Amino acid sequence: MHTIVLATQKGGSGKSTLAIGLALAAKQAGFTVRLIETDPQGTLSNWQRRRAADDLVVEPIYHAADIAPRLNMLADGGLQLAIVDTAAGLSAATAAAIRHSDLCLIPARPSVADIEATASTLSAARAWKRPYSFVLNQTPIRGQRIDNAAGALAEEAALDLAEVLARPLIVMRNDHQDALASGLAVSEFAPNGKSADEIRGLWHWIETRLELEAPSNVLIDQVMSATDGMPHIATERAADETTTLAS
Ligand SMILES: Nc1ncnc2c1ncn2[C@@H]1O[C@H](COP(=O)(O)OP(=O)(O)OP(=O)(O)O)[C@@H](O)[C@H]1O
Ligand SMILES: [Mg+2]
Repeated sequence: MHTIVLATQKGGSGKSTLAIGLALAAKQAGFTVRLIETDPQGTLSNWQRRRAADDLVVEPIYHAADIAPRLNMLADGGLQLAIVDTAAGLSAATAAAIRHSDLCLIPARPSVADIEATASTLSAARAWKRPYSFVLNQTPIRGQRIDNAAGALAEEAALDLAEVLARPLIVMRNDHQDALASGLAVSEFAPNGKSADEIRGLWHWIETRLELEAPSNVLIDQVMSATDGMPHIATERAADETTTLAS
């Protein structure tokens, strides 16, 4: 199982929105996914109550001591991906989630306050030697503000930004807010929209960053559609591809 944590000290930077968007993008890519809510504010639970479908479990875990044992249980049960949403700040629960993550995503809007607020999360990820990446969220479509923010993040991390800035940047668009209000992910609310494209792109970037293999059922589906309904050939080819990927 892989565990992705969204964390930053700054409120409103997009942790919950990105957690939901990425969960659905990963699910649509064929992974089994659970959303873990460690923020008592309850944004994910509220979102789930508005959601008609019961296809994505939101599991609240508010006590720091419960996080590692529960993640271990989920991993033992065969879950492929846990996405953990955290409260603003750096609570004990957030620290525990970061400590047990495979990737800590640090969302930041392109503002000085958001970028400065990444420092404590960055320190926690480094202290536990966990991989981390920034996600620039709620950006304008283009402009100097983005370049300035990217440069400032690079300074904050004292690293070449290509290593730690997730791509693509996530532009500020109403689709994200409307999807949240409707109990949907952005890829469900407006599947052909630019926001959905960006979130799928971000998931793809994460797959590459974590060197995740595409689930074999997705390979079989893809090959079957490519072979025009010849399942025996498709399955053999998918099996070959799975072997190649695994080797
Ligand atoms: N790319 C975006 N474009 C437009 N609106 C966005 C985008 N990302 C997030 N939002 C909106 O910004 C607001 C704050 O987002 P969100 O609740 O995800 O932040 P958060 O970091 O989880 O906040 P908190 O720290 O309070 O938990 C929400 O209304 C959300 O819909
Ligand atoms: Mg939130």
